[in-house]
Amino acid sequence: MVNVIGLGYIGLPTALMLAANGVEVVGTDYNGNVVEELNHSRVTFQEDGLLELYRRAVEKGIRFTTEYRKADMYVISVPTPYDEFSKKVDASYVERAVESVLSVCPPEAVLIIESTISPGTIDRHVRPIVERADKKVHLVHAPERIIPGNMIYELEHNNRTIGCDDREVGERVRAVYASFCKSEITVTDIRTAEMTKVVENTYRDINIAFANELAKICRKDGLDVYEIIRIANKHPRVNILTPGPGVGGHCISVDPWFLVGDYPGLANIILAARKINDSMPEFVLERVYGICKERGVDISRVGFYGMTYKEDVDDIRQSPTLQLIHNMEKHLCGHMVKFYDPYVEKDITPNQYHSLDAFLEQVDLVVIMVGHTQIRENLEKLEGKLVLDTRKVADCPDWYTL
Ligand SMILES: NC(=O)c1ccc[n+]([C@@H]2O[C@H](COP(=O)([O-])OP(=O)(O)OC[C@H]3O[C@@H](n4cnc5c(N)ncnc54)[C@H](O)[C@@H]3O)[C@@H](O)[C@H]2O)c1
Repeated sequence: MVNVIGLGYIGLPTALMLAANGVEVVGTDYNGNVVEELNHSRVTFQEDGLLELYRRAVEKGIRFTTEYRKADMYVISVPTPYDEFSKKVDASYVERAVESVLSVCPPEAVLIIESTISPGTIDRHVRPIVERADKKVHLVHAPERIIPGNMIYELEHNNRTIGCDDREVGERVRAVYASFCKSEITVTDIRTAEMTKVVENTYRDINIAFANELAKICRKDGLDVYEIIRIANKHPRVNILTPGPGVGGHCISVDPWFLVGDYPGLANIILAARKINDSMPEFVLERVYGICKERGVDISRVGFYGMTYKEDVDDIRQSPTLQLIHNMEKHLCGHMVKFYDPYVEKDITPNQYHSLDAFLEQVDLVVIMVGHTQIRENLEKLEGKLVLDTRKVADCPDWYTL
């Protein structure tokens, strides 16, 4: 039996996928609301194919509870934020989850940490807890790579990494993941698995930062960054990404900080990339002020379309729009502009609309912060508006870009 601890964006689909593929699973979350929702046939976030997967898992007998259960294997997928001051991983959620598991698990149980952690976290934060509990268990790190919006497909088709102390345990864990994963599963040691995961997200962050820096350089010189990238990418070994309004979410904007915190003085490109990407919401604001001045638009007639950190998901964590709202509070104009996102039902900020038409009626300058399918399919509704397209959702010569 597998007890999955933490039923959020990662833990829930993983638990459902295991159960739907014949593994006996109990899902545990200490948040009673999450468990109640799941026990009332409601999934807790929007994701393509999640509800169908939930139904398949329920048919196979998955259970949800707030209690930690006796099991052979535990999959721990709890948050790992970073400490804003030290920039190091905040492993306290993982520590607490491991303590709770150790209080119920049998000897020889396998504790798989799926949460993203910085290199050395298991040695520094988890092993001491296991030693204190004086229980023989096996530690494994199996980081997750799936992307919201395509999670179910990627769970089945992404390659995976399993870091373990003991090869035989690694093979047992590989067999469990192979119940649903159709791709390559690499077994390695724990520190390599920890580092690999953080390196992957850092690679993405640096590449995005390069595109964003080019956008700023080109803006200064009146050059079209998109055209330059399009042409440069015709080189057989060049693949520059698209600039955007910043980097959000729970992974790419967080994990590089782990390396900055742990390797000060060594993680230089990584730190610079983080700073560039974090500066993009402010860059968007500067563009907005410039356009308002040029076209005589009152700031109260500016509307930001999109609040999530990427298209077609409901996750707003660390999103560029939230960063921008935070920045605007400093300029004391945050309460004047308008916001809308088809995926965000809760009111996050004043002047937030819940209908695209009502939002558009109130604004003259639309700033596209997220390229949701909804806006791509309703471009005609933007006719007659000024548009700052930070995501390059369309090729409109009249629109402003980064
Ligand atoms: N969201 C992503 O796209 C993504 C992708 C890859 C990896 N990750 C990593 O996966 C981990 C989990 O992220 P997430 O997005 O699923 O987080 P999340 O906040 O969506 O979910 C975490 C869940 O864990 C529960 N929880 C926390 N501590 C607990 C405990 N001690 N016992 C029981 N339940 C507990 C919370 O109530 C919450 O429901 C993080 O380390 C993250 O970096 C996330």
